[in-house]
Amino acid sequence: MAKNTGLSKLEDRLAAILADRETRSQRRRLSTFPPHSVDFSSNSYLSLSLTPEIRQTYLELLKSVPDSTPLFGSGGSRLLDGNSPLSEDLEREVAAFHGAPTGLLFNSGFDANAGLFACLTQPGDVVVYDELAHASMHDGMRASRAALCVPFRHNCVYPEQVQRCQDSTTSKRKDGPKSLRETLHQLLGSDDEPLSAALRSGERNVFIAVEGVYSMDGDVAPLKDIVACIEHRLPRGNGYLIVDEAHSTGIFGDQGRGLVCELGLEDKVFLRLHTFGKAMGSAGAIVLCSPVTREYLINYARTLVYTTALPTSCLASIKVTYAFLSTPQFDDVRQKLRWLMRYTHSVLVAICARHTTQDDQPTSSDRLLIRVNPTPPTSPIIPLLTSQPRSLAAFCQQRGLVVRPIVAPTVPEGSERVRICLHAANTKEQVDRLGQAIEEWGVTTSRAAASGRPRDKAAGPSAAQQFLKPSL
Ligand SMILES: Cc1ncc(COP(=O)(O)O)c(C=O)c1O
Repeated sequence: MAKNTGLSKLEDRLAAILADRETRSQRRRLSTFPPHSVDFSSNSYLSLSLTPEIRQTYLELLKSVPDSTPLFGSGGSRLLDGNSPLSEDLEREVAAFHGAPTGLLFNSGFDANAGLFACLTQPGDVVVYDELAHASMHDGMRASRAALCVPFRHNCVYPEQVQRCQDSTTSKRKDGPKSLRETLHQLLGSDDEPLSAALRSGERNVFIAVEGVYSMDGDVAPLKDIVACIEHRLPRGNGYLIVDEAHSTGIFGDQGRGLVCELGLEDKVFLRLHTFGKAMGSAGAIVLCSPVTREYLINYARTLVYTTALPTSCLASIKVTYAFLSTPQFDDVRQKLRWLMRYTHSVLVAICARHTTQDDQPTSSDRLLIRVNPTPPTSPIIPLLTSQPRSLAAFCQQRGLVVRPIVAPTVPEGSERVRICLHAANTKEQVDRLGQAIEEWGVTTSRAAASGRPRDKAAGPSAAQQFLKPSL
């Protein structure tokens, strides 16, 4: 007899799907942490939304907004009543700051990617994307009219890099996407394939989609090599590079202009996306592109046309944060973050040396392992590889240190990790506390393993779970 769960048939089905996800240890849950927890998790790398000068300027700007201007809601889509002189001025200012001809605001980076990938590709075009490209690009590609969307091996422009990556201890994959050069070669190479001929003649376009900094590894795209490869393989100029600077905005380039500006590639990149929800500490995003591309997006990007535009309160926060980037204090903030990156890395390297197995096997399930890239980080994201990310993250969370476990399928199997994100407002003492917690976890977990106790029990429930548990 069917169990009466009080759920409709649909809800029964949804519950079963969730239960299945749970058994695969992939169920997602919302969590909150006690107010004084230490943030080693959010993407607010520069802690700008906590900076007193920015908060003060923001409040003053809000006070100066006339009563006749809506503050909390824009009242409609940019194409109807949601446009304003503030939006247009901000687009001009931000585009000029990043050395781009024009800019177009979107409500989020997700909206921007989903909208632009869906509409820019023309029938028969191809998208070649880094295999770790963000979900929003995938949503856009899925809705697009592209003939093909093909991944290339993460950050590998040349075949030798794929080989090196396969030989490395973190990646045991022997198959999978090829390098960018090989991928383009294959697409263009076939003599009797009409698509190849159309790409070779320049009749069809290839969009190459990458990120500036990748959110899970914190590694930086080899943009100069990518540009050189595109120019070499697509000499007719039908290769269009799109760079998502979600995690490089504010971190790279003079005054935080981003990676493209740092490398002087402004004229080589077809379109850039800067988001304001990460280092900029606000919300929303801007697409930097040519005037005609901007006009096209205004007409065809559904995630812009059919949504209520950003409110004045949000535009004001973006404006004051950009103004702060040009102040001497901003240099201090970035220097502090860079110091923390070096210091944290040295702490982690020392701990890992004490808690890494002899043969350094990251996928081995019966050995304790913590491993950090020996090269100092170039971004504030430091992955700490471990075969037990949930246990380690929970152990830290119980001590008020918020780090997150990242498991497959978000990252490839065998490269599970705890993601440590540093912020300008973090202190040396907080990093030391984090180091101590990781060290303690290493010792506790080794002992538990030696005595045959199940290791996942070592840490108990996460602080988030405890916080959500009703008190008895
Ligand atoms: C690379 C990348 N692009 C786009 C987005 C989406 O940006 P937003 O959070 O503004 O929607 C994210 C967010 O996680 C991201 O990591």
